[in-house]
Amino acid sequence: MKFFVDTADIDAIRELAETGMVDGVTTNPSLILKSGRDIIEVTKEICDLVDGPVSAEVAATEYDAMVAEGLKLADIADNVCIKVPLTFDGLRACRTFRDKGFMVNVTLCFSANQALLAAKAGATFISPFIGRLDDMHIDGMDLIAEIRQIYDNYHFDTEILAASIRTANHIREAALIGADVCTAPPAVLKGLANHPLTDKGLEQFLADWAKTGQKIV
Ligand code: G3P
Repeated sequence: MKFFVDTADIDAIRELAETGMVDGVTTNPSLILKSGRDIIEVTKEICDLVDGPVSAEVAATEYDAMVAEGLKLADIADNVCIKVPLTFDGLRACRTFRDKGFMVNVTLCFSANQALLAAKAGATFISPFIGRLDDMHIDGMDLIAEIRQIYDNYHFDTEILAASIRTANHIREAALIGADVCTAPPAVLKGLANHPLTDKGLEQFLADWAKTGQKIV
């Protein structure tokens, strides 16, 4: 499973990238707002830090304007992945961008039929939003499982990018189902390393080591 970091926070991306666990980055208008940065400048910096796809989202909702914005975003760097919403115009724009050879992430997916349309429009990634379905007491993982089955049934190349990930358990479940990618906030990705038995074991080892009176360097 590939890990994308869901943030426009350069320091957080850099810290995680140093571990080698970052396969890409996703941003959206809310994350750009949170960063306080200019979208063009911050996307360029992220693309310089990370080799993999960096999703940058259009803000227009009408086809012609979406295409104009997407082309400007794609011009930032070769690894920009143009992000479009799962609307009819977004799907049209997706096909246009794919025909021009650009990567496209179709976002705000909440149903298997929407995911089917995105695959037919040639999306590189489909982003089903797990947490926001869970917020409505609908199991977001059922959607991931349905999309996995549909894409496998018809051999679509579109990668399932599990988004709106809020917990370590979301990542475990998405991995078990076979989502191709998870995008998660930096704190959720860092938190995957934590286990109380690791902490307890380390505490014991350090206590015993101190008793040896030794030093390694
Ligand atoms: O990748 C989409 C993500 O940023 C949305 O997450 O937590 O706002 O639903 P959330």
